[in-house]
Amino acid sequence: MPRTLDPQIKRTLAERIRFYNELGIYDFYRREGLPAEIPLESAPPQIQLEPREPMTPRAKAVVAAPAVEGDLFEVANPKPESKVTDPAKALRIVREDLGDCTRCRLHKQGRKQIVFGVGNPRAQLMFIGEAPGADEDEQGEPFVGRAGQLLNNMIRAMGLQREDVYIANIIKCRPPGNRTPERDECETCSPFLMRQIAVIKPEVIVALGAVAAKTLLAINAPMAELRGHWYDFRGTKLAVTYHPAFLLRDPRQKKEAWKDLQMVMKEMGMPIPTKSAE
Ligand code: URA
Repeated sequence: MPRTLDPQIKRTLAERIRFYNELGIYDFYRREGLPAEIPLESAPPQIQLEPREPMTPRAKAVVAAPAVEGDLFEVANPKPESKVTDPAKALRIVREDLGDCTRCRLHKQGRKQIVFGVGNPRAQLMFIGEAPGADEDEQGEPFVGRAGQLLNNMIRAMGLQREDVYIANIIKCRPPGNRTPERDECETCSPFLMRQIAVIKPEVIVALGAVAAKTLLAINAPMAELRGHWYDFRGTKLAVTYHPAFLLRDPRQKKEAWKDLQMVMKEMGMPIPTKSAE
């Protein structure tokens, strides 16, 4: 049952959020177990706002309704881009806000450039990978190396072009030696990805690989369990498939990835071609 907050508490919350916004912090989560009724006079200390924990675990399920608290925070906590109706412009605002980011250690560990994301700002379908590799770091665009060529094939097999979709990563800077991103790097970077998603408003997100899936869903499960289900990610349908780099190492799994993409196409009402991605 959606709970409504007392207007006085809403105002107090809004003030607190504005305070954080002025510090440049836009993402919050509300701790589970918030009492249903909060005595007015003690409201501020009891409301446990924690900046920068963007991802709330969602139950593994066929898509559910958007989170009620998301609406409240969106109203109380408008992002600089939220008044801009043109998504291309809004994405530019997010990119400007990111700047020449030095928020985590990766900026001094050999990254050449930030890899923000690429594609259609109004895409219905969004792919989210893990982190830029050497080619992406060189070119400033996600998925342009060998894994990117396979992703392009997967997109084409769906009857789409790379330009039709939007492609981004959990983190925007290449980790040294392509190591797996650290949790704090994901937490620091992902608020910008959340803002990209909020601007693009895709119908479906496809998480490519375990790092993307586990980070977005905050579920620690093997890929075999993560695939084949629909998840609700902040009101957007999310599916999981293998990372193209994994498919390059184990091409026998391509037919499994194709099943995942067919599930996506079916959900999006797209015609399903018979030929799979090679
Ligand atoms: N792997 C990823 O996860 N992302 C890229 O952009 C390239 C390779």
